[in-house]
Amino acid sequence: MRKTIIAGNWKMNTTADEASKLATEIKARLTGFNHAELLICPPYINLAQVSKVVNKSVIKIGGQNLYYEQSGAFTGEISGQMLKSVGCDYVIVGHSERRALFGETDELINRKLKAALDSELIPILCIGEQLEDREAGLTEKVLEKQLDGSLKEFPTDWMEKIVVAYEPVWAIGTGKTATPEQAEEVHRFIRDKLSQEFGGTVAEGLTILYGGSVKPDNSDSLFAEENIDGFLIGGASLKAESFERIAHSASKES
Ligand code: PGA
Repeated sequence: MRKTIIAGNWKMNTTADEASKLATEIKARLTGFNHAELLICPPYINLAQVSKVVNKSVIKIGGQNLYYEQSGAFTGEISGQMLKSVGCDYVIVGHSERRALFGETDELINRKLKAALDSELIPILCIGEQLEDREAGLTEKVLEKQLDGSLKEFPTDWMEKIVVAYEPVWAIGTGKTATPEQAEEVHRFIRDKLSQEFGGTVAEGLTILYGGSVKPDNSDSLFAEENIDGFLIGGASLKAESFERIAHSASKES
């Protein structure tokens, strides 16, 4: 079933103390919130302590990345089972910063998605076009390629266990948000495309998040769109108050 998710991607922010403080404040502000699944994704090194802070609350935690092997000689990497062992339920896979700065390919992302599912984590697959793709009218082509590559050899029942996040690269951290109409058009496209491949039931049940400069002042209008099922929030998730205000967009559904 399609789930509403409000997710915070803290990226490479927060020291240990800051992470505990932020998680504590978010938990306090959102006690009992039940309009959406609430998720925070702190840096790896802060996951275990944040997990203790949010334990038995409505806040879930997730990793920002993982490696596709479960253990072994892979210096500096973290596996799905490690994330699971500190209490993660989710993991972000293929974020545009991983693609652009760390050379992640669709093939690698495909392996990571499978590894996440093997570890019983819910992967949030990120896709999105660059500004030049959009200006050249290539948005759908780029997304299609990312989806085809990332979801290669995916059986239908796996599709029921993943979340997709549409994050136009030109909107990430830039203050430029896609308009609700622009975002809805792409979300509709993604759902239609996946419906052709995996069937209408799976596509209708798929949660598709929007990410890219989501703020309290634009989240209501984005969330009002039929195919926007929640958000992946970067900058605005680092302040408990703005994360809370964005989460409340999910309680104003018409
Ligand atoms: P932003 O980041 O909200 O700071 O634009 C979104 C993301 O990268 O997930």
